[in-house]
Amino acid sequence: MNNLVDSFGRQINYVRLAVTDRCNLRCQYCMPAQGIDIVPREELLTFKEMYRLIRVLTELGVTKVRLTGGEPFVRKDFIGFLEMLSYNDLLETINITTNGALISEHISTLEKLEKVKTINLSIDSLQPDKFAKITRRDVFPEVFKTFDLLEKSSLNLKLNVVVQSGFNTDEIVDFVRLTKDKNVAVRFIEEMPFNGKGQREMNENWTFTKILNEIKSQFDVTEIVSEKSSTSRNYHIENHVGSVGIIPAFTRTICNDCNRIRITSMGTFKNCLFDDGVFNLRDFIRNGASNDDLKTLFLSLIKEKPENGFVAEANRKKGNVSESMSTIGG
Ligand code: GTP
Ligand code: 5AD
Ligand code: SF4
Repeated sequence: MNNLVDSFGRQINYVRLAVTDRCNLRCQYCMPAQGIDIVPREELLTFKEMYRLIRVLTELGVTKVRLTGGEPFVRKDFIGFLEMLSYNDLLETINITTNGALISEHISTLEKLEKVKTINLSIDSLQPDKFAKITRRDVFPEVFKTFDLLEKSSLNLKLNVVVQSGFNTDEIVDFVRLTKDKNVAVRFIEEMPFNGKGQREMNENWTFTKILNEIKSQFDVTEIVSEKSSTSRNYHIENHVGSVGIIPAFTRTICNDCNRIRITSMGTFKNCLFDDGVFNLRDFIRNGASNDDLKTLFLSLIKEKPENGFVAEANRKKGNVSESMSTIGG
């Protein structure tokens, strides 16, 4: 039974958990070249604490978890955590969002973990030079090896492409071409201003409509009926084995069907990607809260979920764009 219903009647069954704020890349849209101030290790949730929070949430009705970061595979014994989470019989799917630079050796292990269904792989360019410019690291060969292995594996694969004005908009069509022979869902994402004081200027907004028009200029697309709570609107192209999608992350036309909450690596509870972080779960459990206390807390926090990301943003106390996606968890 799902008890997690917010004040707007939205049922929450999906939690995004950032297992670390550390990352091995330095993507321009996420952080400045020098990186972000990382949190001392003892301030991060332990895997045991994460397991417990997820267990309580599944007892309230959550069935899907997505593990993010930072880069989740940077955290020591992340695979052990996946095995641990798999013991939660109330959890139906464990999905992972990764940059793919550290995982080629783990793919066969991931395939064996029954609840791990989908890997969302971030790749913002198909050109080595440009890839290095965007990520500020030289990992193109390794990420492409991972891409290849994942595409051939039993796992579902989605590619996340953040559309960045002045960097990769000329590659949208190339990414779409990939779906001709590769069984992959390529999803273009509107860039959001969470770059950890990277001072990046979003001088030309590549919105959902602009991206769709760019795709339509070369391909005939038919919209696919997706799950109501899908972040992306998805499209099929005749004779292509994969699909393409667009995530209106910045224009936020997905909020009416939002089904998710977030927990950051420090244990901050977030009702919305654009809110400030409304509760410190880590201190609550370290101060002795019981599972019943946690349940009562979650039920009340969820009632505060804002109607949409614009409301959440307007309520932000910080009122700035200094946060990095690496801390929020995407
Ligand atoms: P699925 O579980 O496959 O639907 O994945 P997802 O799209 O929810 O997750 P992923 O980690 O791949 O995120 C893709 C992009 O969507 C990232 O840029 C996220 O920040 C963004 N995103 C994910 N959830 C939300 C959301 O609730 N609101 C907004 N505005 N953007 C989101
Ligand atoms: N805007 C949009 N998407 C972003 N991501 C990271 N930073 C941003 C941003 N500023 C994406 C990553 C990853 C997912 C978790 O979020 O590329 O695929
Ligand atoms: Fe949900 Fe906030 Fe994302 Fe809208 S912006 S879909 S309310 S998390």
